Formats: sequence, C-alpha cells, structure tokens
Amino acid sequence: NEMQEMTEATLAFARGVSVAEPLEPVNLNGLLADLAAELSASGPPVTLVESPPHILPLRRMALRRALRNLLENAQRYGAGATVGISHAGGETFVTIDDAGPGIPEADLERVFDPFERLETSRSRETGGAGLGLPIARAILRAHGGEVSLSNRPEGGLRATVRLPAANQGAKARAIASRKV
Ligand SMILES: Nc1ncnc2c1ncn2[C@@H]1O[C@H](COP(=O)(O)OP(=O)(O)OP(=O)(O)O)[C@@H](O)[C@H]1O
Ligand SMILES: [Mg+2]
Repeated sequence: NEMQEMTEATLAFARGVSVAEPLEPVNLNGLLADLAAELSASGPPVTLVESPPHILPLRRMALRRALRNLLENAQRYGAGATVGISHAGGETFVTIDDAGPGIPEADLERVFDPFERLETSRSRETGGAGLGLPIARAILRAHGGEVSLSNRPEGGLRATVRLPAANQGAKARAIASRKV
C-alpha cells in the first residue's frame, strides 16, 4: 500500500512539475540535439535526423525529462536511437526508433504501468525501476500530448511523442470563453 501511495505521489509530482513550470518558446530541434549529444557521450549513439526548426510553447525541463526517459530506453534496450521530428495536422511528432528486440504486442500498453519491466530486461540486469515510461506519459499528457509505442516493421521499437499544436491553448481558451 505504501509503495502504491509513493508511486502515485511520484507520478502526481511529475504531472505537477510539468504544469508548474512556465510555458516558453522552445526550439525542439535544439533541445533534442543537446540531449542527443549528452546521451551519446556516455552511451550508444543517439542520432537526430535533420529537420526544419520547430519552435513550440513548452515546459522545457519537463519535456526534457520525458524525452530523456524514452531516449535512455532506446540506448539501454535498443543499443541506440534515431530521432525524427515531423509535423502533421498542426501537431508535432517526435519519433524515437531503435534496433532492439521491440516489445511483444500484448505488452505495449502494460509497460506504461509503474514498475512493469519485461522479463527480457529484468534478466539483463539493467537495473531500472520501471518508472521511466509512466513518468514520460504523465508529463506528456499534462502537456496535452501523448506517448505511445509500436513495433517497427523493420524490427526494433518506435516511441511516438505527440505534442499539441502551438495554438491549441489559445484555441481552447477561445472555445471556453465563447458565449452560448
Ligand atoms: N526501447 C525499448 N525496447 C525494448 N523494451 C523496452 C524499451 N523501452 C522500454 N522497454 C521495456 O519496458 C519496461 C519499462 O520501461 P521503463 O522505462 O518504464 O522502466 P525501466 O527502463 O525498466 O526503468 P527506469 O526507466 O525506471 O530506469 C522496460 O523494463 C523494458 O522491459
Ligand atoms: Mg526506462
């Protein structure tokens, strides 16, 4: 029970931290390039695919934490990451691809539950707590975004991060204040 309470507090904290931090214009390409350089210096390569600048109103530290958790997983379980940024329907997507074993389809959602670690990683003595994905999801959802996992047809895992459109906040406020 105590463990569960602690976990809930941790996730609430992640959620809270991410909304307490002010929104600021963040160059997503720059933030990812910094993370890639930092992580590559101490582990398998994290490579960022060139793309035009994406500047979005974001909570820098919270977003950094969420992306770092996903990149570290790709390094730990997939021996490195290839990161792409794209833009569709007013939303921005970050994809983090690795060339590891992927995750059985039946477990793709379960790994977002706190402390869920798959047998393959447990026996590999990688020593994580099983909180990286739940924290990443808590942060991104608090941002109006999302993270999901899929297995790539060519092998390996893809984590897809969706970030809301830059003007979504303004749009939501406009809708909320509309006279009925
Ligand atoms: N890129 C990946 N490839 C294969 N399996 C993965 C990948 N990312 C996560 N997993 C599986 O999902 C589990 C949960 O991941 P999560 O990041 O939540 O925890 P962790 O990495 O075990 O520990 P922590 O992130 O707290 O140090 C991992 O233990 C691993 O089994
Ligand atoms: Mg992890």
